[in-house]
Amino acid sequence: MAARKKSAARKQPSTSKKSATRKSASSKKKSTGRRSAPQDAIALLRADHKTVKDLFEQFEKTRKDERKQALAEQICNELTVHAQIEEEIFYPAAREAIREEDLVDEATVEHQSAKDLIAQIRGGSASDELWEAKVKVLGEYIDHHVKEEQNEMFPQVKKTKLDLKALGEQLMARKTELMGEVGGNGNGNGGKRGRSGKGGGSAGGKGSGGGSKGAGSGEEEGGGGEGAEGEGIVARMARGMGLAGGT
Ligand SMILES: [Fe+2]
Ligand SMILES: [Fe+2]
Repeated sequence: MAARKKSAARKQPSTSKKSATRKSASSKKKSTGRRSAPQDAIALLRADHKTVKDLFEQFEKTRKDERKQALAEQICNELTVHAQIEEEIFYPAAREAIREEDLVDEATVEHQSAKDLIAQIRGGSASDELWEAKVKVLGEYIDHHVKEEQNEMFPQVKKTKLDLKALGEQLMARKTELMGEVGGNGNGNGGKRGRSGKGGGSAGGKGSGGGSKGAGSGEEEGGGGEGAEGEGIVARMARGMGLAGGT
């Protein structure tokens, strides 16, 4: 799984004039390109991965509980939306296009496990010692998941005839929609909330066809999956580490 095929998967959004301008404009934040105009699906998902990785890194460095809480909420929101657009749009397309459907199955199961942990994190707070460990375990788990997507699934998808631009537009449109929903979920964190409306210009008007997704399921992602039936790898892992207390 560690075979790095970066060259195959390394097609960042070089077509966008905006991203070039933005890079120099926002000197402080490493550019993820996520606010730029149409990206192909893989560039968009990679940018999301980067955003979340950065957030986990910030979480690691932060000492203040308040800030940790805000970052964790943002991480959970980002991941929930990201997982949902993958499941609704990208994974079904990938499943049809690539040979190794198992990759999609595994990724879907990993999402479920991550959601279990996200639900626990959302249900707790920074004052709980185990809460911080849960965020860290989530970070490690996502890191693993992202590597599999980027090193295995994405390169395979790139070899197919999938219209990654159109797929990227669908992903962006749905993401913008979901971010609006999650953003209204009672997040008081001052930090980076401003990004919720990102990419509005490109997302709105594009009817790129396709898209069988049903809106409105964003909430259940984080809120639900804690029950016994859905106990996944992470939950079991967390239990093994003594993290999954009473949730
Ligand atoms: Fe994923
Ligand atoms: Fe992903």
